[in-house]
Amino acid sequence: MPRANLDKDPHEVAAMFDGAAGGYDRANSVMTFGFDRRWRTTTAHALDARPGEKVLDLAAGTGVSTAEYARGGAWCLAADFSIGMLTSGKHRGVPMVAADALHLPFADDSFDAATISFGIRNFVDTKAALVEIARVVKPGGRLVICEASTPPFGPIRFVYRRFLLRAMTLLGRFTSSNPEAYSYLAESMAAWPDQRTLAETIAAAGWTNVEWLNLTFGVVAIHRAKKPPVAPAPHPTTTPQ
Ligand SMILES: C[S@@+](CC[C@H](N)C(=O)[O-])C[C@H]1O[C@@H](n2cnc3c(N)ncnc32)[C@H](O)[C@@H]1O
Repeated sequence: MPRANLDKDPHEVAAMFDGAAGGYDRANSVMTFGFDRRWRTTTAHALDARPGEKVLDLAAGTGVSTAEYARGGAWCLAADFSIGMLTSGKHRGVPMVAADALHLPFADDSFDAATISFGIRNFVDTKAALVEIARVVKPGGRLVICEASTPPFGPIRFVYRRFLLRAMTLLGRFTSSNPEAYSYLAESMAAWPDQRTLAETIAAAGWTNVEWLNLTFGVVAIHRAKKPPVAPAPHPTTTPQ
Protein backbone atom coordinates (compact mmCIF):
# COMPACT_ATOMS: atom_id res chain seq x y z
CA MET A 1 0.00 0.00 0.00
CA PRO A 2 1.36 3.46 -0.84
CA ARG A 3 2.44 5.86 1.88
CA ALA A 4 3.74 9.41 1.63
CA ASN A 5 6.91 10.80 3.16
CA LEU A 6 7.60 14.10 4.84
CA ASP A 7 8.43 15.69 1.47
CA LYS A 8 4.63 15.39 0.93
CA ASP A 9 4.75 14.68 -2.77
CA PRO A 10 1.14 15.44 -3.84
CA HIS A 11 0.85 12.28 -5.97
CA GLU A 12 2.04 10.09 -3.10
CA VAL A 13 -0.24 11.86 -0.61
CA ALA A 14 -3.29 11.45 -2.87
CA ALA A 15 -2.44 7.78 -3.57
CA MET A 16 -1.96 7.11 0.15
CA PHE A 17 -5.38 8.55 1.01
CA ASP A 18 -6.97 6.67 -1.91
CA GLY A 19 -5.61 3.52 -0.25
CA ALA A 20 -6.84 4.55 3.21
CA ALA A 21 -10.30 5.67 2.06
CA GLY A 22 -12.12 2.40 2.82
CA GLY A 23 -13.08 2.58 6.48
CA TYR A 24 -11.23 5.89 6.94
CA ASP A 25 -13.92 7.43 9.16
CA ARG A 26 -13.98 4.40 11.47
CA ALA A 27 -10.17 4.21 11.69
CA ASN A 28 -10.07 7.93 12.47
CA SER A 29 -12.57 7.63 15.32
CA VAL A 30 -10.80 4.59 16.79
CA MET A 31 -7.40 6.26 16.53
CA THR A 32 -8.60 9.42 18.30
CA PHE A 33 -10.52 7.46 20.97
CA GLY A 34 -13.71 9.11 19.65
CA PHE A 35 -12.43 12.64 20.33
CA ASP A 36 -12.69 13.53 16.62
CA ARG A 37 -16.45 14.06 17.01
CA ARG A 38 -15.91 16.67 19.70
CA TRP A 39 -13.15 18.41 17.70
CA ARG A 40 -15.41 18.59 14.63
CA THR A 41 -18.29 20.06 16.64
CA THR A 42 -16.01 22.74 18.13
CA THR A 43 -14.65 23.50 14.65
CA ALA A 44 -18.23 23.90 13.38
CA HIS A 45 -18.89 26.41 16.19
CA ALA A 46 -15.72 28.35 15.33
CA LEU A 47 -16.72 28.39 11.66
CA ASP A 48 -20.26 29.51 12.46
CA ALA A 49 -21.54 28.87 8.92
CA ARG A 50 -24.84 30.70 8.36
CA PRO A 51 -27.71 30.05 5.92
CA GLY A 52 -26.98 31.69 2.57
CA GLU A 53 -23.21 31.45 3.00
CA LYS A 54 -20.86 29.53 0.71
CA VAL A 55 -18.25 27.50 2.56
CA LEU A 56 -15.27 25.65 1.11
CA ASP A 57 -14.24 22.59 3.13
CA LEU A 58 -10.79 21.89 1.77
CA ALA A 59 -9.01 18.52 2.09
CA ALA A 60 -12.48 17.39 3.11
CA GLY A 61 -11.78 13.68 2.70
CA THR A 62 -15.07 11.81 3.01
CA GLY A 63 -16.96 15.03 3.78
CA VAL A 64 -17.64 14.08 7.39
CA SER A 65 -17.06 17.65 8.59
CA THR A 66 -18.66 19.19 5.49
CA ALA A 67 -21.96 17.49 6.36
CA GLU A 68 -21.73 18.88 9.89
CA TYR A 69 -21.12 22.46 8.67
CA ALA A 70 -24.02 22.20 6.18
CA ARG A 71 -26.48 21.33 8.95
CA GLY A 72 -26.96 25.01 9.80
CA GLY A 73 -28.16 25.83 6.25
CA ALA A 74 -24.96 27.08 4.59
CA TRP A 75 -23.98 25.71 1.16
CA CYS A 76 -20.83 23.71 1.90
CA LEU A 77 -18.57 22.24 -0.76
CA ALA A 78 -16.18 19.35 -0.03
CA ALA A 79 -12.95 19.61 -2.04
CA ASP A 80 -10.14 17.05 -1.97
CA PHE A 81 -7.57 15.66 -4.39
CA SER A 82 -8.16 12.04 -3.36
CA ILE A 83 -10.98 10.70 -5.51
CA GLY A 84 -11.01 7.62 -3.25
CA MET A 85 -11.76 9.70 -0.16
CA LEU A 86 -14.50 11.70 -1.92
CA THR A 87 -16.06 8.51 -3.31
CA SER A 88 -16.09 6.93 0.17
CA GLY A 89 -18.19 9.85 1.40
CA LYS A 90 -20.63 10.13 -1.48
CA HIS A 91 -23.46 8.75 0.70
CA ARG A 92 -23.29 12.01 2.69
CA GLY A 93 -24.94 13.88 -0.18
CA VAL A 94 -22.77 16.99 0.12
CA PRO A 95 -21.50 18.63 -3.10
CA MET A 96 -17.97 17.43 -3.85
CA VAL A 97 -15.20 18.46 -6.20
CA ALA A 98 -11.76 17.02 -6.92
CA ALA A 99 -9.30 19.88 -6.34
CA ASP A 100 -5.76 20.52 -5.21
CA ALA A 101 -5.46 23.09 -2.41
CA LEU A 102 -2.56 24.75 -4.17
CA HIS A 103 -4.42 25.26 -7.47
CA LEU A 104 -8.07 25.82 -6.65
CA PRO A 105 -10.52 25.72 -9.57
CA PHE A 106 -12.53 28.70 -8.28
CA ALA A 107 -12.76 32.37 -9.16
CA ASP A 108 -11.39 35.05 -6.83
CA ASP A 109 -13.63 36.01 -3.86
CA SER A 110 -16.01 33.03 -4.29
CA PHE A 111 -16.54 31.86 -0.69
CA ASP A 112 -17.65 33.43 2.59
CA ALA A 113 -15.40 31.05 4.50
CA ALA A 114 -12.88 28.28 4.00
CA THR A 115 -12.02 25.54 6.43
CA ILE A 116 -9.58 22.63 6.67
CA SER A 117 -9.72 19.78 9.19
CA PHE A 118 -6.67 17.55 9.58
CA GLY A 119 -5.65 18.34 6.01
CA ILE A 120 -3.23 21.27 5.97
CA ARG A 121 -0.48 19.17 7.55
CA ASN A 122 -0.36 17.17 4.31
CA PHE A 123 0.06 20.09 1.91
CA VAL A 124 3.39 20.27 0.12
CA ASP A 125 3.61 24.05 0.70
CA THR A 126 1.55 25.40 3.62
CA LYS A 127 2.03 29.10 2.93
CA ALA A 128 1.35 28.81 -0.82
CA ALA A 129 -1.91 26.98 -0.04
CA LEU A 130 -2.93 29.68 2.46
CA VAL A 131 -2.29 32.36 -0.18
CA GLU A 132 -4.35 30.40 -2.72
CA ILE A 133 -7.20 29.95 -0.20
CA ALA A 134 -7.18 33.70 0.52
CA ARG A 135 -7.62 34.29 -3.22
CA VAL A 136 -10.93 32.38 -3.35
CA VAL A 137 -12.35 33.78 -0.07
CA LYS A 138 -14.24 37.09 -0.16
CA PRO A 139 -12.69 40.15 1.51
CA GLY A 140 -13.65 39.99 5.19
CA GLY A 141 -14.24 36.21 4.86
CA ARG A 142 -13.14 33.60 7.40
CA LEU A 143 -10.55 30.87 7.62
CA VAL A 144 -10.85 28.07 10.19
CA ILE A 145 -8.22 25.35 10.49
CA CYS A 146 -8.45 22.36 12.80
CA GLU A 147 -5.18 20.43 13.02
CA ALA A 148 -3.07 18.25 15.28
CA SER A 149 -0.82 20.49 17.36
CA THR A 150 1.63 20.70 20.25
CA PRO A 151 0.46 20.43 23.89
CA PRO A 152 2.00 23.53 25.52
CA PHE A 153 2.46 21.88 28.96
CA GLY A 154 5.75 19.94 28.96
CA PRO A 155 4.72 16.78 30.87
CA ILE A 156 1.57 16.37 28.74
CA ARG A 157 3.64 16.97 25.60
CA PHE A 158 6.05 14.24 26.73
CA VAL A 159 3.30 11.70 27.42
CA TYR A 160 1.53 12.59 24.17
CA ARG A 161 4.63 12.20 22.01
CA ARG A 162 6.10 9.24 23.84
CA PHE A 163 3.00 7.10 24.41
CA LEU A 164 -0.24 8.50 23.01
CA LEU A 165 0.96 9.16 19.48
CA ARG A 166 2.35 5.62 19.33
CA ALA A 167 -0.89 4.13 20.66
CA MET A 168 -2.87 6.17 18.11
CA THR A 169 -0.62 4.96 15.29
CA LEU A 170 -1.06 1.32 16.33
CA LEU A 171 -4.82 1.67 16.57
CA GLY A 172 -4.92 3.38 13.16
CA ARG A 173 -2.76 0.63 11.63
CA PHE A 174 -5.06 -2.10 12.96
CA THR A 175 -8.25 -0.53 11.71
CA SER A 176 -7.16 1.07 8.43
CA SER A 177 -7.33 -0.26 4.88
CA ASN A 178 -3.84 1.27 4.45
CA PRO A 179 -1.84 0.62 7.66
CA GLU A 180 1.26 2.30 6.21
CA ALA A 181 -0.63 5.60 6.04
CA TYR A 182 -0.78 5.69 9.83
CA SER A 183 2.99 5.67 10.18
CA TYR A 184 3.10 8.72 7.91
CA LEU A 185 0.28 10.40 9.86
CA ALA A 186 2.17 10.01 13.15
CA GLU A 187 5.42 11.26 11.60
CA SER A 188 3.69 14.26 10.05
CA MET A 189 1.98 15.12 13.36
CA ALA A 190 5.32 15.03 15.21
CA ALA A 191 6.95 17.24 12.57
CA TRP A 192 4.08 19.76 12.33
CA PRO A 193 4.78 23.31 13.66
CA ASP A 194 3.32 24.43 16.97
CA GLN A 195 0.37 26.81 17.37
CA ARG A 196 2.35 30.06 17.26
CA THR A 197 4.42 29.06 14.24
CA LEU A 198 1.32 28.09 12.28
CA ALA A 199 -0.34 31.39 13.28
CA GLU A 200 2.71 33.26 11.93
CA THR A 201 2.53 31.36 8.64
CA ILE A 202 -1.18 32.18 8.32
CA ALA A 203 -0.46 35.88 8.90
CA ALA A 204 2.47 35.82 6.47
CA ALA A 205 0.07 34.46 3.83
CA GLY A 206 -2.00 37.66 4.09
CA TRP A 207 -4.66 36.77 6.70
CA THR A 208 -5.43 39.03 9.68
CA ASN A 209 -6.92 38.62 13.18
CA VAL A 210 -5.16 35.27 13.58
CA GLU A 211 -6.02 33.49 16.82
CA TRP A 212 -6.08 29.92 18.07
CA LEU A 213 -7.86 27.73 20.57
CA ASN A 214 -6.29 24.60 22.10
CA LEU A 215 -8.47 21.50 22.33
CA THR A 216 -7.72 18.46 24.52
CA PHE A 217 -4.60 19.99 26.14
CA GLY A 218 -3.35 21.28 22.76
CA VAL A 219 -3.22 17.86 21.10
CA VAL A 220 -5.39 19.64 18.52
CA ALA A 221 -5.75 23.38 17.86
CA ILE A 222 -8.24 25.45 15.92
CA HIS A 223 -6.79 28.50 14.15
CA ARG A 224 -9.12 31.24 13.01
CA ALA A 225 -8.33 34.23 10.77
CA LYS A 226 -9.95 36.78 8.46
CA LYS A 227 -9.18 37.95 4.97
CA PRO A 228 -8.62 41.72 5.16
CA PRO A 229 -11.63 43.72 3.94
CA VAL A 230 -11.23 45.80 0.80
CA ALA A 231 -9.68 49.13 1.68
CA PRO A 232 -12.27 51.92 1.24
CA ALA A 233 -11.77 54.01 -1.90
CA PRO A 234 -10.00 57.29 -1.10
CA HIS A 235 -12.21 60.41 -0.99
CA PRO A 236 -12.04 62.29 -4.28
CA THR A 237 -9.98 65.36 -3.71
CA THR A 238 -11.77 68.56 -4.60
CA THR A 239 -9.68 71.05 -6.47
CA PRO A 240 -10.35 74.64 -5.36
CA GLN A 241 -11.84 76.66 -8.22
C1 LIG B 1 -6.38 13.21 7.29
S1 LIG B 1 -7.45 13.46 5.92
C2 LIG B 1 -8.66 14.57 6.62
C3 LIG B 1 -10.00 14.46 5.94
C4 LIG B 1 -11.13 15.27 6.57
N1 LIG B 1 -10.93 16.69 6.47
C5 LIG B 1 -11.34 14.87 7.99
O1 LIG B 1 -11.34 15.75 8.85
O2 LIG B 1 -11.56 13.69 8.25
C6 LIG B 1 -6.48 14.57 4.91
C7 LIG B 1 -7.10 14.83 3.55
O3 LIG B 1 -6.36 15.87 2.94
C8 LIG B 1 -6.36 15.64 1.55
N2 LIG B 1 -5.31 16.45 0.94
C9 LIG B 1 -4.00 16.45 1.25
N3 LIG B 1 -3.34 17.34 0.49
C10 LIG B 1 -4.26 17.92 -0.33
C11 LIG B 1 -4.20 18.93 -1.32
N4 LIG B 1 -3.03 19.52 -1.68
N5 LIG B 1 -5.32 19.29 -1.95
C12 LIG B 1 -6.50 18.71 -1.62
N6 LIG B 1 -6.63 17.74 -0.69
C13 LIG B 1 -5.53 17.35 -0.03
C14 LIG B 1 -6.16 14.13 1.46
O4 LIG B 1 -6.51 13.61 0.21
C15 LIG B 1 -7.05 13.65 2.60
O5 LIG B 1 -8.34 13.34 2.16
